[in-house]
Amino acid sequence: MLKVVEARDYKDMSRKAANIISAQIILKEDSVLGLATGSTPIGAYETLVHWCDKGDLDFSKVRTVNLDEYVGLPAFHEQSYYYFMRKNLFEKVNIDLSNTHLPDGTNENAEQECKRYHDVIESMGGIDLQLLGIGNNGHIGFNEPADTFANWVHKVELTDSTIEANSRLFNSKEEVPTSAYTMGIGEIMSAKKILIIASGKAKAPIIKEMIEGPVTPQVPASILKFHNDVTLIADKDALSLLSK
Ligand code: PGA
Repeated sequence: MLKVVEARDYKDMSRKAANIISAQIILKEDSVLGLATGSTPIGAYETLVHWCDKGDLDFSKVRTVNLDEYVGLPAFHEQSYYYFMRKNLFEKVNIDLSNTHLPDGTNENAEQECKRYHDVIESMGGIDLQLLGIGNNGHIGFNEPADTFANWVHKVELTDSTIEANSRLFNSKEEVPTSAYTMGIGEIMSAKKILIIASGKAKAPIIKEMIEGPVTPQVPASILKFHNDVTLIADKDALSLLSK
C-alpha cells in the first residue's frame, strides 16, 4: 500500500523523512538502510547529522547499502556517490565505514560487480528501510524507463534526460558518466519498508503519473504501488497536480 504524507515544504519533508529513518534506527540499532543520493535527501541527512550530534541518534551499528554508483568514477571523485555519501552523512555521524556499501564504479567487469553487490545485500539479510528519490522520468535508483523491469543489480545506460538533469553537478554534460550500476527493482521491492521523497513543482507531473497512472516499466516508480509498505513524503508543490 502506498501512503501519501503531505509536507509543507522541503524542510518539512526532510524532517518528516528523518523522523522515519530515526525511528527505524531506534527500533533496530543494526538496521540495514538503503540510501539514495541526489538533491532531495540532503535535508534529511542534515537533520540526521544534527540529531546524531545531539546524542539523540546512534549510527554505530547501522549498516547501509546505496542504490547506485556511476560506472567509471573512483570513490574519491567528487561526483561519485561514495563521495556524496561521505560528505553528506558518513563522515558526520558515528557510522562504521566498513558497514557502508555502494557498487564499485571502478570495477569494469559488470557481471562480477553486479553479482558482488547483490550478494552484499543478500548477506545482510536484505534492506529494512529503503530511501528513494524519484527522477523526472520516473526512475528509482538508476532504473530508467524501459520495456521491462530489471530484476537485480545491473549496469544501465543512462537516458539523455538523466544525463541532462545530472549535468548540473558536473562542469559539462560531456563529463557525466553514461552508465551506472544500480540495484534492480527486485532488491528495491524486497525492502521491508520503502520511503520515497519528492519536493518541488518540477516533480509534480511524475508524482501524478506514478500515483494515478498504470504500473509500467516506462515509469519505474509506478511499481511501488505493488509494495505493501511504501510511504511517499512530498511537499505541496510536488503533490500539486494530483486529482484528489
Ligand atoms: P534529485 O534526484 O533528488 O536530485 O531530484 C532524484 C533522482 O534522480 O532519483
